[in-house]
Amino acid sequence: MKIGNIEFPKHPVFLAPMEDVTDPTFRYMCKQFGVDMMYTEFISAEGLIRGGKKGIRKLDLWEDERPIGIQIYGANIEPMVEAAKIVEKAEPEILDLNFGCPVKKIAGRGAGSGMLREVDKMIEMTQRIVDAVSIPVTAKTRIGWSSEEINIQEVTERIQETGIHALTIHGRTKVQMYQGEADWDVIKAVKDNPKVKIPIIGNGDISSAQDAKKRFEESVMMDRTAPKKHLLSPAQGNRLITLARQTLQQAFLKKATPKSEDPQEVADDIFQKPGGVFVTLKKNGNLRGCIGSLTSKKPLWQGVCENTRNAAFRDPRFEALKASELAEVSIEVSVLTTPISLIYDAKEDLLQRLQPHVDGVILKKGSATATFLPQVWQQLPDPRDFLSHLCLKAGLSANSWEKDKPDISVYQVQAFEESRPAGKGI
Ligand SMILES: Cc1cc2nc3c(=O)[nH]c(=O)nc-3n(C[C@H](O)[C@H](O)[C@H](O)COP(=O)(O)O)c2cc1C
Repeated sequence: MKIGNIEFPKHPVFLAPMEDVTDPTFRYMCKQFGVDMMYTEFISAEGLIRGGKKGIRKLDLWEDERPIGIQIYGANIEPMVEAAKIVEKAEPEILDLNFGCPVKKIAGRGAGSGMLREVDKMIEMTQRIVDAVSIPVTAKTRIGWSSEEINIQEVTERIQETGIHALTIHGRTKVQMYQGEADWDVIKAVKDNPKVKIPIIGNGDISSAQDAKKRFEESVMMDRTAPKKHLLSPAQGNRLITLARQTLQQAFLKKATPKSEDPQEVADDIFQKPGGVFVTLKKNGNLRGCIGSLTSKKPLWQGVCENTRNAAFRDPRFEALKASELAEVSIEVSVLTTPISLIYDAKEDLLQRLQPHVDGVILKKGSATATFLPQVWQQLPDPRDFLSHLCLKAGLSANSWEKDKPDISVYQVQAFEESRPAGKGI
């Protein structure tokens, strides 16, 4: 994740701004515990431009607490723009706008979460501030005013157009104040919205490392289930197999591979979508070639054609396929979901998280990397053996997965097998 020029780790932890809590002493402690990003307590824009001591004091930053965001709030556009310029001079990495505070004397005057009922004004204010300062601007808000007025999708889609760099969403409504549970389904729905391009930072009810981990994993789970919406039907799978078979035959006849224009093969929308795909060739039940890509920008149909040719002629473990073998090889096409990182603490945790016979696994340590498709679980059903062999495949020692904490990603596949009696070759 990136905000402005700040590159964060994959799952960064941010300290929420809290009035009377996130002062320099508290921030110092949180920094010692490794928080990735912190915010000051909020500052009244009107107070700041009047030179109020309370606000000015909150502008004091320490070098070793960077990256840090300073948060301001206010109901009126001009003072907010003026305050933003003052904040910029204090040189925080980020200027954050408070559109979430629910307390009566703030929201009741139209500031904080009061802005959720005046979205046009919120957008105009944000735009004016983004235009007035040169540091990255972010905002923090709630999912809506009340359970009947949840407008966070509209707010996010509109506010991102102003050029803000990220949006923090507290999963409660203004009416809830700090009661009840934060609704993470709504936060996930925003993250899932294909129109939303800026980073979304979820907030609410995170009071332990386990809570944070759970939320990160849930969004990972969301990624896992998303591709299920695009499952191929058996008929579509058969067409991919046919495409692979034709590619093999045509390679020997030195003809071009099927063209994208060919309506018979690839007119289906799903074949035009990019994605990872592997093609496996087997002869008499034994592996005869297997090549694929974990992710790809090329359309699925093209991945099938290319990987079929590569599995037949360019798998370094095997000799190039001969025309005489064509009748004996069977084809399997594996369509991959997008790989996602597994967050794990230690080897026992990793062993628990892996789903044997379901997960394809990518192991990465430095420049060493290797993958096993889920089909490999049939030969290596014990997760320890599976991971040891995967390490060996990556050129690492067999126990590297136990001691080196390699990066592990998982994906699932939809596999289609050719069911054909050995027939004529070409
Ligand atoms: C004492 C206190 C002060 C807060 N002050 C601010 C603030 O200055 N700015 C802000 O955006 N949110 C503020 N919040 C809201 C938090 O940043 C955060 O959104 C909220 O606490 C999340 O809910 P949770 O406490 O259930 O995790 C405050 C919350 C508390 C409890």
